[in-house]
Amino acid sequence: MAEKQLGIGMIGCGDIAPMHTKAIAAAETVKLVACMDVAESSAKSLAEEQGVPYTTELSELLGRSDVDAVTIATPAFTHADLVEQAAKAGKAVLCEKPLAASLEDADRIIASCEQAGVALSTCFPLRYLGAAKLTRQLLQAGALGQVIAIRVRNLGEKKESYWTGGFSGRTITDWRKSKQQSGGGVIITNLIHHLDLIRGITDLEVVRVFGESGTFVTDVEVEDTGAACLRYENEAIGVVEGSSCFPGGSNEPDVVIVGQKGQSRFGLWSGKCEVYLKGEARGMPAQEWVTREFQDAVHVEFYEQFAAAVRQGKTPPVTGEDGRKALEIVLAIYRSTDTGQPVSLPL
Ligand SMILES: NC(=O)c1ccc[n+]([C@@H]2O[C@H](COP(=O)([O-])OP(=O)(O)OC[C@H]3O[C@@H](n4cnc5c(N)ncnc54)[C@H](O)[C@@H]3O)[C@@H](O)[C@H]2O)c1
Repeated sequence: MAEKQLGIGMIGCGDIAPMHTKAIAAAETVKLVACMDVAESSAKSLAEEQGVPYTTELSELLGRSDVDAVTIATPAFTHADLVEQAAKAGKAVLCEKPLAASLEDADRIIASCEQAGVALSTCFPLRYLGAAKLTRQLLQAGALGQVIAIRVRNLGEKKESYWTGGFSGRTITDWRKSKQQSGGGVIITNLIHHLDLIRGITDLEVVRVFGESGTFVTDVEVEDTGAACLRYENEAIGVVEGSSCFPGGSNEPDVVIVGQKGQSRFGLWSGKCEVYLKGEARGMPAQEWVTREFQDAVHVEFYEQFAAAVRQGKTPPVTGEDGRKALEIVLAIYRSTDTGQPVSLPL
């Protein structure tokens, strides 16, 4: 007999929420059971589209016995309070990135889930990209050799309307412009994905950063452009660049990982990974660029893996601690920008 699907309650029904509900609908082991948002129109429209009930009251959502887990897709400054209440109600938690805007809030989130004995996962679905998994396999097999350099970039151009409505305009708010509410701009919003992805692929921790960021074009408090030089624990050097006001964007590969014996590079949404190896390995010839292609469904896989862990009482593959670690690198970059000095981690 098929196992019961994990019932998901959606908290926050704004810009990113439909991406979650689509993934939940496509995943076999989870099921959307209700939606909640303080903005009734956002909750109502998503719930009606998905054919589930909605509420504007958190206690009503958390009181439902068919809600086994919640997806929290609200702004960062609301995450700690919401996670705390969900954990107290005994619900497993899948929290959108950034886990929080401060390490204090991230610690509160992790502690509340530990105390309640519920699973906590940070939504970093890019770890399930085929290119990321292939690169990790090549590293683990020794085919790329020791990592010496890492380059990540997210150079986009966001419309002015993004700052109040995201990409869809489902909910009109102004938290994205506020440093206190969002935690920052393109570094905490976008590059945090890449920073986690590098951890997920390489298992390497950052030990020092030198960051620069500024607001050049957009009328917001947060940075619209930033860059940092990172030193990893194995001495590898990372270069990260992000912008939300890069005219025309950029279609260069977002992630490049260079080892002593080879290189892997891929665009996040290209569905491809290009690999160059000095020596033949895993069916790939030596000394020529090879392209591998993938059909990615990263959010669906994220939900399946989350559900499997919750059902088996295990820690989800992407943890709350992972969310905290990525946040810590981001905050170190901001601190370095503010002080004009390199910053060592852990903070
Ligand atoms: N993983 C990704 O690729 C990705 C992409 C976009 C956004 N995000 C993250 O998802 C989160 C939400 O982003 P968004 O773009 O959907 O924001 P949004 O403002 O469009 O939507 C957030 C929704 O949360 C609701 N909300 C606010 N406070 C609430 C509360 N206390 N209780 C219930 N609902 C509340 C708002 O009314 C709004 O409808 C952020 O943390 C953001 O960084 C992740």
